[in-house]
Amino acid sequence: MRNFKALALGAAVAAVASASDVEVLTKDSFSEFVKGNDLVLAEFYAPWCGHCKALAPEYEEAATTLKEKNIKLAKVDCTEEADLCQSYGVEGYPTLKVFRGPDNVNAYSGARKAPAIVSYMTKQSMPAVSTLTKDTIQDFKTQDKVVLVAYFAADDKTSNTTYTEVAEKLRDSYLFGASNDADLAKDEGVTVPSVVLYKSFDEGKSVFKEAFEGEAIEKFAKTASIPLIGEVGPDTYAGYMAAGIPLAYIFAETPEERTTLSEELKGLAEKHRGAVSFATIDAKAFGAHAGNLNLKTDQFPSFAIQDTVNNKKFPYDQEGKITAELIGKFVADFVAGDVEPSIKSEPIPEKQEGPVQIIVAKNYDDIVLDDAKDVLVEFYAPWCGHCKALAPKYDILAGLYVDAGLDSKVTIAKVDATANDVPDEIQGFPTIKLYKAGDKTNPVTYSGSRSIEDLIKFVKENGTHAAEVTYEEEAEKPIVEPMAEQAEAATESEESAAEEATETAKSEASEASEAAATESHDEL
Ligand SMILES: *[C@@H]1O[C@H](CO)[C@@H](O)[C@H](O)[C@H]1NC(C)=O
Ligand SMILES: *[C@@H]1O[C@H](CO)[C@@H](O)[C@H](O)[C@H]1NC(C)=O
Repeated sequence: MRNFKALALGAAVAAVASASDVEVLTKDSFSEFVKGNDLVLAEFYAPWCGHCKALAPEYEEAATTLKEKNIKLAKVDCTEEADLCQSYGVEGYPTLKVFRGPDNVNAYSGARKAPAIVSYMTKQSMPAVSTLTKDTIQDFKTQDKVVLVAYFAADDKTSNTTYTEVAEKLRDSYLFGASNDADLAKDEGVTVPSVVLYKSFDEGKSVFKEAFEGEAIEKFAKTASIPLIGEVGPDTYAGYMAAGIPLAYIFAETPEERTTLSEELKGLAEKHRGAVSFATIDAKAFGAHAGNLNLKTDQFPSFAIQDTVNNKKFPYDQEGKITAELIGKFVADFVAGDVEPSIKSEPIPEKQEGPVQIIVAKNYDDIVLDDAKDVLVEFYAPWCGHCKALAPKYDILAGLYVDAGLDSKVTIAKVDATANDVPDEIQGFPTIKLYKAGDKTNPVTYSGSRSIEDLIKFVKENGTHAAEVTYEEEAEKPIVEPMAEQAEAATESEESAAEEATETAKSEASEASEAAATESHDEL
């Protein structure tokens, strides 16, 4: 009996496994598949990657749901299909791309959860704007949590073009429809041209009240789609960051507490709507994110505002009570520009000891924005293995400019980006950027190998001063002449070591960016 059960179970598992709706693709089947299907989401993954494993069940679920809409989900194992993955510029895992045929490829920018994938791909499958009639409009309004419908006259080409442009820009985020049926506009109580945003929460809909102009409609979409007091989580985080409005976080550990605090602060959220978005966040699951806002991570409930555009943090005193009155004053002061941002910084080093300049948040501007110099900055994390491997080379590099008397033109510097707030968006460690003399607003991110020679070339080619130093690698090598045979062997092992280094570099780089993602809560 027991055996039979085990057998039956095994069979069931096998059946489930073979019934996957995710298509496994190889270099032989890939282009045929994307040619044969109008819309394909492809995942490029590695079996060892933790985020890929976490995505797998969500991806399966989304594939099954999307099957009926004829949207295909596929996956490619990059440890088996290295060339294929490389040809699509895959650098980290998982990478998700949307294919409309083999040549029309776009990065997937939604969250990695089944409902988010379904919603995102459904939007991709529709024209940027769906033309609606009295027969289709009701159904359309309920297709997503947020949909926008424009009402304009059939001959109003200008409004049509304006609206379509907004829709094309924001199609990944919202569903857009439009109708030229005057009766529908009348039923809705709007005068044409107008836009109505329908939502499955709060007051159910918002009407656009300004002049019919692209930028204003875009702002309206981003503002009106945000719930009065929403919830920050993996599905919503990117939307909050993209909205361009400061975000007020209400951290609390239990759902009951989040509800109570939402009720308490609802009036404030209404008052500051459009200027500050309010959202609760589960402090049990995402408490570490409090650290990113310079709040203590072991004391909840707590409150902080983040200026998402400039990435500045305004933590509310954790000893203070969270009441409508006290928070009301804090938010009003923030809106008036009377709250100083909190900046996490190590102390400024008393003396710069080595050739590599140590940057902390407090001396960042002095060093990085020194307009006279080309400044190469390494953003590192103490736990990052590749940063440790780079350190001795980076020291040598910095020494070369000092020895050549070029340190008045070129600064080689580094910053522990986990201990200092930096204005830059850092995706992984190490990240190396060059801030050119005379142009500090467009730093060039380094993407070459982490060798001294290549870094020298980078500083020369991309720096304003075109400063160049020479590096004699030979000087570093043992002076003993190896015999011919040994020399050959040495070359061989060097080659394979180099190969290995690249491979580890790749996998560790993606692991590091995964770790970075977790650290910076991109994964939220
Ligand atoms: C907007 O213009 C397009 C292209 O001319 C047309 O197909 C569509 O029906 C127009 N939309 C409305 C609501 O009239
Ligand atoms: C200079 O920067 C550009 C743009 O990022 C890059 O393509 C190029 O490879 C850089 N030069 C060197 C020598 O790294």
